[in-house]
Amino acid sequence: MSKANLIDGKAVAASVRSEITARAARLLAETGKRPGLAVVLVGEDPASQVYVRNKDRAAEACGFHSVKHTLAADTSEASLLALVTQLNEDDAIHGILVQLPLPGHIDETKVLRLIRPEKDVDGFHPVNVGLLATGARDTALVPCTPAGSLALLKRTLQTPLAGLNAVVIGRSNIVGKPMAALLLAESCTVTIAHSRTKDLPEVVRGADIVVAAVGRPEMVRGSWIKPGATVIDVGINRVPDPAKGEGATKLVGDVAFAEAAEVAGAITPVPGGVGPMTIAMLMANTLTAARRQLGVAPEPELF
Ligand code: GUN
Repeated sequence: MSKANLIDGKAVAASVRSEITARAARLLAETGKRPGLAVVLVGEDPASQVYVRNKDRAAEACGFHSVKHTLAADTSEASLLALVTQLNEDDAIHGILVQLPLPGHIDETKVLRLIRPEKDVDGFHPVNVGLLATGARDTALVPCTPAGSLALLKRTLQTPLAGLNAVVIGRSNIVGKPMAALLLAESCTVTIAHSRTKDLPEVVRGADIVVAAVGRPEMVRGSWIKPGATVIDVGINRVPDPAKGEGATKLVGDVAFAEAAEVAGAITPVPGGVGPMTIAMLMANTLTAARRQLGVAPEPELF
């Protein structure tokens, strides 16, 4: 049986980042300004610390002005809102990202809605959600993980996605819903499946494109996949790995990779698939936000 093509997100992300670095250098030469990104972390969640560090490093590597704000877990909501207001008003900052989840005493919705939509490089503000939903992708800022997933799909399939059956498993605001909106804008026939979906395996068997974003380790089995389908695995789950010794762990996706790779036409690995694309798309959004705020004409789409 033929094995699926492996979609190398790490390589695609590296090429996207190198193009962004070149574009940022041109912007600096033309305007004297660097794209500015502020990343805000509240508390000490270890996974969030890693993500925030990686985002800050990636911004520096692209030649951006990068600022990291690390606040204590007991920071008041009012202090965080005051910081967002200050960043909203700072002309050197074109993109603001507040790492989620926030501690329980802070109202996440209130914080995300305070970020100026033009600086909302996560694409979580209702204005950006609405622009994406109404098909105005050229003026919206699009959430990074779905944008990165779509970039991988386009590079893999090379042909228009119009008419393909796409099944998105998961309905989160961060991934599932915006992913569905992007696929719909590509004229796919889109199904959003979730924990209450009846006969999920049968629904997935009809899919030319499967995007798994549920956060349940290896839930999607090889027997669910239509032969030749393209599988994008957004899940990042840490699970025990007894083969490596007691207490050892490994990362797995939401798809049972070895099984699915026997059936799919192409599939993303975990790690090394969607993950690296998320950060590349954050850099792309920051550059886009900077160009718009500086009144510089847009460049051709990166993907
Ligand atoms: N936490 C998990 N994913 C994300 C993301 O894409 N953006 C932010 N801000 N927080 C997250």
